[in-house]
Formats: sequence, structure tokens, C-alpha cells
Amino acid sequence: MCRFQIQDSLIYFEDSQNMGKIKNDSVALVVTSPPYFNYIEYGNIGIGTEKQYSEYLDNLKNVFRECFRALIPDGKVCINITNMKSRKDIEGKSFLYPIVADVTNLMLSLGYTFFDEIIWVKGNANNGALKGKPLFGSYPYPPNPKILDSIFENILIFKKDGKLLNRVNPQDKELSKVSKEEWMKYTKGIWIF
Ligand SMILES: C[S@@+](CC[C@H](N)C(=O)[O-])C[C@H]1O[C@@H](n2cnc3c(N)ncnc32)[C@H](O)[C@@H]1O
Repeated sequence: MCRFQIQDSLIYFEDSQNMGKIKNDSVALVVTSPPYFNYIEYGNIGIGTEKQYSEYLDNLKNVFRECFRALIPDGKVCINITNMKSRKDIEGKSFLYPIVADVTNLMLSLGYTFFDEIIWVKGNANNGALKGKPLFGSYPYPPNPKILDSIFENILIFKKDGKLLNRVNPQDKELSKVSKEEWMKYTKGIWIF
């Protein structure tokens, strides 16, 4: 186990499928970007490296079950996730893993309320999956481009129902204040950056 203290924050480097050190009903906000399935490998360990897609979803479910336990009533979970293309060399055909729909359903099955959603347009943050090159498939004719050059991801927001018992103290509340421009920008359902 490895943990760091940074000012008032304690950071654990552990498997988030078991967050036993985090007390029940103690966390106001979870923000997470889980690994993609079958795409980027993080050292061949951890979630995303499973052989079966169903196993990947089961492991994510373990994580979000733990989040549910740790969240305070009215607490929220923001999940940055996207549908993932298959790898034709492995699966033998091109298709999308419906991760956004499946994660939404598994969150509902854990008791969360689907609260809101954001489309994050990451544009050319990584030059898109195709690095700015034209699509292959039927290029330059439209019927079958094989895959689209996806430049967005989803941010799904879920809530644990219940009444918020302890409100944030006035000093911290003041520190969290945003400008009218920021408010207008970030309350729109599409974030572009
Ligand atoms: C898409 S990346 C998110 C990276 C993160 N947003 C950042 O900026 O560093 C997914 C991360 O989840 C980590 N991960 C995979 N399985 C995990 C597990 N069981 N518990 C905790 N983290 C895990 C991976 O190592 C990887 O760093």
C-alpha cells in the first residue's frame, strides 16, 4: 500500500474496487476517468486489460458500488468515458463497445440517479484517433468509412439520492464561487477544450 499526505488531502494508490479505508457516507464528489476497454494498456494490469468485455463491466461495477457506499446522500459521481472501437486485429471486425450505455445501466442497477451529462469535445487534443489523416474504408465515397474520427467523450453525472445533511462552511463556499461567464460556459451541456 502506498499513500501520500498533501496538505489536508490523503492520496491512496490502491485498487479502487476495494476502498475500505474510505468511510461510508463521507465523500461529496467522485470524479473519475476509468480505463478504456481493450485499447490503452496501463502496464498490463488493472481495469481495461480484461479478456472479456463483461468482466470489464463487472470490475467497473465493483468500483462504482464502492463509490456508492462512500458517497454522502446527495453526493455525485462524474464519469469521463466514451464508447470504444474494437480492434479488428483482435475481434475480427469493426464495431463499437457500447460503454456509455452499459455504464449508465450499471449505475442505475447500483441505485444511482442519472443526474446529467456533458459532451466533452476534445477536438484535436490528441489529433483524433486518425491523427488528421483521411478515413480509409470506402474513402472518398461515404457509405462505409469503417470508423469515425471521434473527437468527443462523455461525462456522465450520477447522484446518490438523499438529503444533504452538512452544508459546506461559508468560507469554503465563498472560495468555490465562479464568475457569471464561467457559470454560463460550464452549465451548457457541451464543453469544448
Ligand atoms: C484513462 S486513465 C485516467 C488517467 C487519469 N485521469 C490521469 O490523469 O492520470 C485510467 C487510469 O485508471 C488506472 N486504473 C486501472 N485499474 C485501476 C484500479 N483497479 N484501481 C485504480 N485505478 C486503476 C490506470 O492505471 C489509469 O491510470
